[in-house]
Amino acid sequence: MNHPDGPKTATVHPTAPAGARPLLIAPSVLAADLTRLGEEVRGAEQAGADVIHLDVMDGVFVPNISFGPPVCAAVRAETRLPVWTHLMIQQPERYIDTFREAGSDQIVVHTEACVHLYRVLQQIRATGAHAGVALNPHTPLDSLLWVRDLLDSVLIMTVNPGFGGQSFLESTLPKIKAARDLVGPNVDIIVDGGIDERTARAVVAEGANALVAGTSVFRHTGGMVEGVRALRAAACAGALCG
Ligand code: DX5
Ligand code: ZN
Repeated sequence: MNHPDGPKTATVHPTAPAGARPLLIAPSVLAADLTRLGEEVRGAEQAGADVIHLDVMDGVFVPNISFGPPVCAAVRAETRLPVWTHLMIQQPERYIDTFREAGSDQIVVHTEACVHLYRVLQQIRATGAHAGVALNPHTPLDSLLWVRDLLDSVLIMTVNPGFGGQSFLESTLPKIKAARDLVGPNVDIIVDGGIDERTARAVVAEGANALVAGTSVFRHTGGMVEGVRALRAAACAGALCG
């Protein structure tokens, strides 16, 4: 189900269930200083991040436009960390091969944007990338039921997609637990939006293990090292770290 070599610097709490996925801090470059993207990505890796998260937006599926394959390729060239691409775009099947060629290790598509979700996940896996499904705050988990054999991750949007710097939606907490119960311990549960020192403990306690963090890392007042450290410390209080 998951990549044989797994993430580089992940740690698993001794009390975590057998096979539990490790804690992953995944800074979103949406919040980075894009005039210094290479420096920011290298800084996030040096700060101890486990994954680089790319928020791709098309201005149709979400009311914002971010960046595309060229930026993915530029990020790929700057880091050895896994690059996870979150496609907030309509008909993502059109761009799976392109984002894989641009260096994505995992491609996450929105169930709301896929008429044939099973086929899209097959397409992602066929490129050699990991496959994930993202769900907007209102979307029930039902569409995951019959694609679990193709899931490396589930991304629970904890804000309305489209913008960084939003406030965490507390209503998503029970959904995180329900997702973990549905997919079991061997799939990454990613949370995305409003994840910071205050919310990290709560989401991990509900079963999340991969924390997307844009503002709380790239715009932390104490800098990226402190941002990653504080997130990891808060998440460990929710019992996921060695
Ligand atoms: C929304 C984006 C944001 C981003 C993280 O579509 O997906 O959630 O990754 O933003 P912060 O961490 O700044 O809330
Ligand atoms: Zn995202």
